[in-house]
Amino acid sequence: MKIEIVPFASAVSKKNITRKTVVVIDVLRATSVMITALQNGAKEIIPCETIDEAKQIALGFPSGSYLLCGERNAVKIEGFDLGNSPLEFTRITVENKTIIITTTNGTKALNACMKAKKVLIGSFLNAGAIAKNIQELNELVLVCSGTNGRFSLDDGMCAVMIINVISEEKNVDIDDLGQVLHAMYKNKHGDLYKLLQDAYHLKLLLKKGYKNDVDYCLQTNTTNLIPVFDLKSRMVY
Ligand code: MLT
Repeated sequence: MKIEIVPFASAVSKKNITRKTVVVIDVLRATSVMITALQNGAKEIIPCETIDEAKQIALGFPSGSYLLCGERNAVKIEGFDLGNSPLEFTRITVENKTIIITTTNGTKALNACMKAKKVLIGSFLNAGAIAKNIQELNELVLVCSGTNGRFSLDDGMCAVMIINVISEEKNVDIDDLGQVLHAMYKNKHGDLYKLLQDAYHLKLLLKKGYKNDVDYCLQTNTTNLIPVFDLKSRMVY
C-alpha cells in the first residue's frame, strides 16, 4: 500500500487527496471529540471552518436539537454550548443532538478534503479499527491536522500507529515523513507518553489545564467506531 502523510491542514491540496481514501487525524482534540460524541449517541456532526459559519448553520435547526461547539486557542468560544473537550461530550449531553462544531485545525482539515473519495475520522481511540478497515486499499492519505499551519507530533504518531498495524499484514510504501515517524515510533516501542512528552500542542493543553483531556485522547483502541465525513451532506456520521 502506498501511504502519504500530509503534515498539517493547510498542506492539503487537490493533488494529494483527489479521489483517494483519506483519514483525517486531530488527536488533540477535534477528531477524538467527534468519535466520542458519536459513540455517546450524537445524531450527526457538522464540521465548520469558521465561527460565523457555525452560528449560521445553527439558525437552521430548531432550538434544543443541536449543540454549538468549538474552540479558539483551545478555549471554548464565547456563547457556545460546549468547547472542544471530549469529556464534555457525555451521553446525557449529546444523545440525539446535532453537533455543530468549529475548531482551529481539525474542522479546517476536514473541509479541505472535499475532493477525496472517502474521508474517515481517526484518532488513537480508533486507530486499530481504522487500520483494519483500510487494509485492502492500494493507496491511502493520512491527513494530520497539525496546529496553526505546523506539524503536530501527536497527529503524526497516530498516523504512524495506523501505518504500523497495516505494515504487520502487508507491504507498505511510506513517504519520507512517514519513514521518520515510523523509525521514531519503533525506537520508543510505541510508548505514546515518551514519544509525545515534548510535543507542542500537548504541552499547550497541559498548560491550559486540560490534563484529563490529554489522558483521555492518548488512550488507544477503545472503540471500533469509524466516523465517516459524508462529502455530499458535509456531515460526519
Ligand atoms: C483543533 O482543531 O485545532 C484542536 O482540536 C485544538 C484543541 O482544541 O486542542
